[in-house]
Amino acid sequence: DTVDWDPEDAGKGEYDHYMLKEIHNQPTALSNTIEGRVENGDVAFEALPAGSFAEIETVQLVACGTSYHAAMYGAQLLREAGLRTEVVRASEYDSTAGPVDENTLVVAVTQSGETADTLDAVRTATDRGARSLAVTNVVGSTAAREADDAVYIRAGPEVGVAATKTYSSQAVTLALLTQRIAADVPEATPAADREEMLAELEHLPDYVDQMLEFTEAAELADDLLDSESYFFIGNGLSRSVALEGALKFKEITYEHAEGFASGQLKHGPLALVTEASPIFAVVTGDGDEKTKTNAIEAQSRGAPIVAVGPDDHALVDVADATLSVPDTHPVWAGLLANVQLQLVSYHAADMLGRPIDKPRNLAKSVTVE
Ligand code: AGP
Repeated sequence: DTVDWDPEDAGKGEYDHYMLKEIHNQPTALSNTIEGRVENGDVAFEALPAGSFAEIETVQLVACGTSYHAAMYGAQLLREAGLRTEVVRASEYDSTAGPVDENTLVVAVTQSGETADTLDAVRTATDRGARSLAVTNVVGSTAAREADDAVYIRAGPEVGVAATKTYSSQAVTLALLTQRIAADVPEATPAADREEMLAELEHLPDYVDQMLEFTEAAELADDLLDSESYFFIGNGLSRSVALEGALKFKEITYEHAEGFASGQLKHGPLALVTEASPIFAVVTGDGDEKTKTNAIEAQSRGAPIVAVGPDDHALVDVADATLSVPDTHPVWAGLLANVQLQLVSYHAADMLGRPIDKPRNLAKSVTVE
């Protein structure tokens, strides 16, 4: 007798799905991402010694989907370090990107290194004279080969179509890259609390571990499963986490989900808010007052509010439920909040019986424009 089996199933181990395995693999993935890159309070990338970015005046990040959300995260950190920074959806490069020259670093953020839109955007930028850097998971990928330099995120293979651990590793890599670039560029200022931030980074894998053990994401997904729409809001660094939370949710549950910058809710989307549209409010310490005001507006229309943040988050007096994340430096807190949201999406999709690792209509890497 023979049984049908998919060779990929061999690698799922104790988990029902690759996505869950990859979510749980994040502590290891992050340890690998960080390994050897923080030395004596400095950030080091093997291929990019000190001084490599001395000529850079502008940074332009290009990416799609989840990688775009990691790029948004990185872009805010680059701006905070005083670097002129633009983040562009690679598929819209021709119509939305600003001018580039030889002092522009175009950074392709792409897990697979094969996304056609992203490759095309980098080719356009380099044809116009920009210098290129690939931030990717795949050694030998097209992005890594074509770019002037490559930095690997070292997340390990990701099989699930929904990007999980690669997002976390990309965001950490971009945060480290920010410090590396800022140290080279005379007009930039590395973070004032850099030492504290980098020290906390060393604990990030343990924080993810703790959270995976104590999370209540499954219970919460169960409570909210009959809703009509799911909204995700966040301000500052939490904004990209909110957008990513919504993308992941719709991608694998097939339910209607949208992410907004907190302050945008009242400019239209509020019309959709009812008691059947829970709001996940990402509150990780950066600009949370705006999230609070807007969450209260939504709550007064009946929407349940789920805060995602550390125990003393800004919505403590307001939230109907909290998905708690360990207390850490605000630069890393959003990554922890994102892991909680990955779990909410996963459990909601699982309860709905969706084919989690291979959602309909989607491919792991999109090699057409
Ligand atoms: C994420 O869950 C998606 N599958 C998708 O948005 C993905 O992030 C996007 O297609 C970009 O892929 P890349 O990182 O391989 O370039």
